Amino acid sequence: MRMQASEFAPMPWKEPDARPAAVIAGLGTALPRTEISNASLAEHLDTDDEWIRTRTGIASRRRAAPDISMTDLASAAAANALRSAGRTAVDALVLATTTPDRPCPAAGPEVAHRLGQGGIPAFDVSAVCSGFIYATATAAGLISAGMAESVVVTAAETYSRIVDPADRSTAVLFGDGAGAVVLRRGTTGEPGALLAFDLGSDGAERDAIHVPGEREQPEGQRWFSMAGRKVYLRAIEQMTSSARKVMKDCAWSSETVGAFVAHQANARIIDAVANRLQVPSDTAVCEIARVGNTAAASIPLALADAMDGGRLKPGARTVLTAFGGGLTWGSAALTWPHLTHVRSEI
Ligand code: UT7
Repeated sequence: MRMQASEFAPMPWKEPDARPAAVIAGLGTALPRTEISNASLAEHLDTDDEWIRTRTGIASRRRAAPDISMTDLASAAAANALRSAGRTAVDALVLATTTPDRPCPAAGPEVAHRLGQGGIPAFDVSAVCSGFIYATATAAGLISAGMAESVVVTAAETYSRIVDPADRSTAVLFGDGAGAVVLRRGTTGEPGALLAFDLGSDGAERDAIHVPGEREQPEGQRWFSMAGRKVYLRAIEQMTSSARKVMKDCAWSSETVGAFVAHQANARIIDAVANRLQVPSDTAVCEIARVGNTAAASIPLALADAMDGGRLKPGARTVLTAFGGGLTWGSAALTWPHLTHVRSEI
């Protein structure tokens, strides 16, 4: 059948703020109950509270009990995010972790099963401390491709299982924990809309943060290691340029940013990146003191603390940025949504 000219209706004009977008609809976190203070680490390591606080900003971190797994933390955070979103079902699950309970299979399907969501696509993303940004970008991609209307992203870590407790250069830094968000299909004009992403990697520096494989180190315990100083400098450079890209994509000038949430690895790194970006000084979120560096889980945990503390308000222009092993980095720009954070301790 031939179409009449009158049937070729022009595309309806859309407001620039009404394009389809993934929107954050729920936020959940889960932390292990056991707190490990700087003072208790100093009992068996050649370190002290003052060094740890002044060099990193960390005062304590959580450690999962022997019977609590990464999958337990990921499931609890995801269940809390669903509660926060007022949902019982989603179309897909993406899990970010560097510390899987076992090499195979991925933990995503088990978490989906535990949530009563057996059957949905579920998989893991491994991007170390950039894992939450990578997983959120992947989930937003599923939504924008029309493959899902809603996705839960859960990021969980048990670094206490891969860090050498006798190595003061890493043992004081990391903690266990999990954070999750629910994304749903919405529009760019809504609070919670994810407006821009930037992702990158540099595999030439794969050894800067690593756990050796069996072929690299056939014998002995294979612990996590990090070239701290090198990573410090690269993290500042890369998070600054990546965050700048998403701010430029959104045409946001520095002074209009309402919340700047960088990966919580070191308070000095967060300050340095915030200064370079020239975002208002009170917008840089630093919640590292209580939980340390929780790798992939650090951004959702920091968002939750900032929100609960009243520092992250609905509608705030929010910039997220992360850097980690791989090397990997990534940023996201969003407006902060109206929601209630649901937390638990296990
Ligand atoms: O999450 C993924 C991304 N990770 C990061 O972004 C972390 C980046 N790196 C850092 O945050 C910092 O480099 C660290 C916190 C890891 C280290 O801080 P730093 O100011 O770069 O210290 P450094 O490595 O240059 O070490 C300075 C000194 C050394 O002693 P000497 O050689 O100067 O005598 C270390 O042996 O501090 C010593 N040191 C410690 N002293 C007391 C290292 N760890 C400790 C410790 N307690 N726990």
